[in-house]
Order: sequence, then C-alpha cells, then structure tokens
Amino acid sequence: MGFWIFGRRRRRARTAARAAPTVAGHPPAPATPPRAAAPVFEEADDEATAAVPVGDLPGGARAEEFATGPVGWFSRDEIAGLTEIDDSRDLARRVGMMMPGASREEVLFRYHLSRSVFLEEYELPVLPQSANRLMALTREPKARIEDYVKVIEPDPSLVRAIIDVANSSFFSALQAVTSVDRAIVRIGLLEVERIALIHTLRTRLFRIAGFEQMLDGLVRHNVEAAVAAHCIAKRSGAPPADAFLAGLFHDVGKLVVLAIVGDVQRKLDWSAPVPLVDSAFAAFHVPVGELACRHWKFPDPICATVRSHHAPQRAAGSPLDRAVYIGNRLAHELAAGDEADFEAWSDDPVVQAARLDARALSALFDEARQALAPYGFPAPQPA
Ligand SMILES: [Fe+2]
Ligand SMILES: [Fe+2]
Repeated sequence: MGFWIFGRRRRRARTAARAAPTVAGHPPAPATPPRAAAPVFEEADDEATAAVPVGDLPGGARAEEFATGPVGWFSRDEIAGLTEIDDSRDLARRVGMMMPGASREEVLFRYHLSRSVFLEEYELPVLPQSANRLMALTREPKARIEDYVKVIEPDPSLVRAIIDVANSSFFSALQAVTSVDRAIVRIGLLEVERIALIHTLRTRLFRIAGFEQMLDGLVRHNVEAAVAAHCIAKRSGAPPADAFLAGLFHDVGKLVVLAIVGDVQRKLDWSAPVPLVDSAFAAFHVPVGELACRHWKFPDPICATVRSHHAPQRAAGSPLDRAVYIGNRLAHELAAGDEADFEAWSDDPVVQAARLDARALSALFDEARQALAPYGFPAPQPA
C-alpha cells in the first residue's frame, strides 16, 4: 500500500481541483503542494470541500458527486491496510513513507484523523430530549402551549434562554416576562423551537477543550446561515422551519471533525496548526455532517440539504437546498459585515435557479442581519 497509491491519489485530486468549478463564495481549492514540500498543508478554504471518494463515505452516507480523494488525507483502503500494523514505530515509518517531506507528527495526525472518520471511532453526542420533542411538537398541528411548557420547564437553562429572548429588545415590551408560558405567548411557538435548537447547538452538543473560540465561530456561522436560509425560504416556498434546521446544522460536520481533532491532538500530544485543521474540515465535514444528521434522525430532506450545501448542481434543484446553499453564502457576508457585490453572484447556478437578482439578495442580507438580533448574535454593522 502506500507511497505510490497516495501519490496517485494526490495527482488525481490535483487534476480534479484544476478542473473543478469554484465553490460558491470561495476561491478554487489550491493545488496540493509538491510532494517534497514540507510541511504538507493545503491552505484549505474554510468551506471548499476536497471531498471523499465514491464509496468511501463513512456510515454509508451518500455523496456520489464527490469524485476526488480527500486531498492530503488517507483513503479508506489505505486505512484498512494500515490498521493491521500493531507496532507504533512500524506504523510511523509506514505512514511517513506515504508522505515524504511532512513531519512525523503531521503524518500521524493525518493518519489518526482519517482512521477515526473512516472507522467511525468517534462518538456523536446525543441530541437532548427537549430539542427532539420540541421539533416533534412544531410539526404537530394540535400542539398547545401547555405541551411546550411541559417539555421546556424541566430544562432550567433552556427556560432561561427562552425568557431572555422574550425580554430582549427585539421583542420590546414594557413588562418583563418571568414565566415560560408568557414568554411563549410573546415570541410564538415557532420561535421557541428555533431558540431551543440554537441553545442545543451552542451549549449541549460539543465541548472541545482548547478550541472554544473556534467552536464559537463555527456555531455563530451556523446560526447566521440558519437565519439567512429562513429569510430566503419565507420568500421562495421552501418550508421555513426546515430551512432553519438545515441551515443551523449545515456545517455541523465541522464541529464533529473538530472534536476528533481534539482527541487526536491529545493522543499525539501535539497541536495541529490551523491550516491543517481547516484542511480536515474541507476533506470531511460534508459526509460527517450528513452522517451526524442521520444519527439524530433528522428528516431525509434535511440530511440531503446538508449533503448538497457545497454542490451547486445538486442544490439548484430544490427550494430547500437553494435556501440553505444561498443562506450559507449570505452567512459569510454577514460575518464579514460588509455587503457583498451581489451582481457577481449572478453566475451561480443556485442563485439563478432561485431567481434572486442583486437587489433581492441585498434585501435578504439586510433582513437576515436584523433577524439575528434575538439570538444574541447581532451581525457586525458596516463601517
Ligand atoms: Fe460547509
Ligand atoms: Fe457554512
């Protein structure tokens, strides 16, 4: 196994990267550096997915459009060949031969992370009961406020989050509410679900020591994409609640990959540089994110949307996929704080399919910026 296979895969990936269309909102993935260069970090874009080869996806997740190998990472076959090596020195020597020029730590990091993904050696967090039950209630037409209160009251931190939003300036009212039922009346049942989901993603699912700031940034990006996707869905006929949910979890794969990064770093007692972590996101976050959503039993359309959020040809075909794909692009603009040159978005097949011109995109950008306020993520104002 090894040297020549890895080289062949990298050459194939380089060719594919040159031919691949630009991922929306991002420059094309950079070509892999020469094999002899050290260290072998790709300057992976935040979002551009280097992708996983057909048939190599963890957990049977489907992503047949991914035709190239995970650039700079190990394939499932390579991992299978290496798992039979018991001796750690022998393993280090073998993987080192596959990536000449890279440091021992980097090669082992790439091996252990790839192994964890392909052999599913990581554990996905459990979705809290309260989030699951609230999602079910919002899809139940006969659900009453009392049903919501029963789910929320046993969860003090969720109670506090809902009351805080109800008393925020966004829902400006003269009198502060102090009970869940009054808070629900003020903000509405659908808003309760959104707050509960954000609260879950922010506080319940992932705690990764040493990566708190990066985790906060990733959660914030997901919230911004959810809000933007929700705004788009309200105009386009996509189910707004689904657009919010899919937007909120579209990059959850990055949170899972980050948790694996934390585990591998501890195992190796070595800290990966940020470009290497970004490269891991690019290689694995889409299939791992889809797998996580299936694990949490999210409806099929949500999982499909997570899968397609970097695949314009696929995303163009469905109103929900379009809302999340464009919501993701808008979220990057919201984070930048500056309004984009939306005229330049007219080349994007998803924007074309959604029939959004520059003026409509600009209006959506403003609407999403305002709509972020209740969630404690006010978007930066333009200078
Ligand atoms: Fe992504
Ligand atoms: Fe994203």
